[in-house]
Amino acid sequence: MNLLDYLPTVPDFPKPGIMFKDISPLLADHKAFAYAIEQLYDLSRGYKFDYLLGIEARGFIFATALAQATKKGLVLARKPNKLPKQVFSKAYGLEYGQDALQLQQDILPRDAKVLVIDDVLATGGTLIAAANLVEQAGGHVAGAVVLLEISDLLGSAKLTSANIQSKSLIK
Ligand code: PRP
Repeated sequence: MNLLDYLPTVPDFPKPGIMFKDISPLLADHKAFAYAIEQLYDLSRGYKFDYLLGIEARGFIFATALAQATKKGLVLARKPNKLPKQVFSKAYGLEYGQDALQLQQDILPRDAKVLVIDDVLATGGTLIAAANLVEQAGGHVAGAVVLLEISDLLGSAKLTSANIQSKSLIK
């Protein structure tokens, strides 16, 4: 099965000049989605980790399925002002703007090893911000796994320089 057939490119979304990869057809096809999760599960087995961290919003979908497959706990990196209690925050730049992620300060035990999950790796800004939150919270980043890497944007090199080992199912 070629998963790229289920990930069409939508030009000029959400802004002119951006080639948006749409995961909706993959999710809508039960077999393609199940196949993607099996393959991501195999990639995740290359890492030692205690928790998965899912990134809002599309990262939640894959992190949730993998948390069930790997039988690990799931923690959520959310967009600002969504999480109750004390949070750590990290702002970052996106291909199409600025954003920030937050993580609850007490959600991880000290020295927990965390595998960060997202749908797409583009510039790498989102995954680096998520990794920073894990460290602020006293954990360690085991690595990052994504469904799709947009290689032209050189995100994985940026992750390597930040000492984060990433694996992508599709490039
Ligand atoms: C998209 C995607 C990744 C991020 C990748 O998220 O889901 O999280 O961009 O880009 P980067 O590698 O350049 O940081 P977006 O912020 O559009 O949010 P969404 O998941 O809520 O749609």
